[in-house]
Amino acid sequence: MRKKVVAGNWKCNTTLQEGVELAIAVNQLVAEKGAKDVVVVLGTPFTHLTSVISAIDSKRIGVAAQNCAAEAKGAFTGEVSASMVKSTGAEYVILGHSERREYYGETSEILNKKLALALENSLTPIYCCGEALAIRNAGTQNEYVINQLKETVFQLSAEDFKKIIIAYEPIWAIGTGVTATTEQAQEMHKALREAVAEKFGQEIANETSILYGGSCNAKNANELFANPDVDGGLIGGASLKAEDFIQIINAY
Ligand code: 13P
Repeated sequence: MRKKVVAGNWKCNTTLQEGVELAIAVNQLVAEKGAKDVVVVLGTPFTHLTSVISAIDSKRIGVAAQNCAAEAKGAFTGEVSASMVKSTGAEYVILGHSERREYYGETSEILNKKLALALENSLTPIYCCGEALAIRNAGTQNEYVINQLKETVFQLSAEDFKKIIIAYEPIWAIGTGVTATTEQAQEMHKALREAVAEKFGQEIANETSILYGGSCNAKNANELFANPDVDGGLIGGASLKAEDFIQIINAY
């Protein structure tokens, strides 16, 4: 059965001390009352990875970087490679977030290099896709998002694709307080799963976790996660509050 995953994306928030405090609080709540069948992931800034990993029970919580370099190593000042991320003990890496695509020019070509390096280093990519409002308004969102997959993760071998977690994050819902309706989320997730089935077969499609992200919070997670094709969430703002985050973890 495919995994249910609730992953926090802290983005560019928290100092190291605040991040460790938050991780300790989440760790405690997960230990006390976290749903056992949900994979919990914390996506922290690079600077926090090692300390957060030391602060949590790694049997219950995984840790993700929010990006990695498109090169393995070398003269790329300021970059952090997939092998460096792996060496911290992190198991996941968020790739293709719309903020990286939009503000840092990440194209499918760049993302393919990052995906390959992440997989070579045994990191699990949480691969983000999603459409802007204009595309949603034009009604072409399904083709657009499926095309994002075709240009990237559908280029992988079936063996590698099986290691990927997909996160559908409509750009118009990110940080806006506007959430996709449960119908909109289910419709897209179903379309994505069908596209995976067409490319890699039904068995792999059934095993692929597809997360929803975009203003998902303690109030609406329940309804969103009730959809048959929504396998959890990638949570921004609400992952910065331990009490909210645990409610989302327990929202199934
Ligand atoms: P918000 O939950 O803050 O809308 O962010 C979603 C997101 O971008 C997670 O990656």
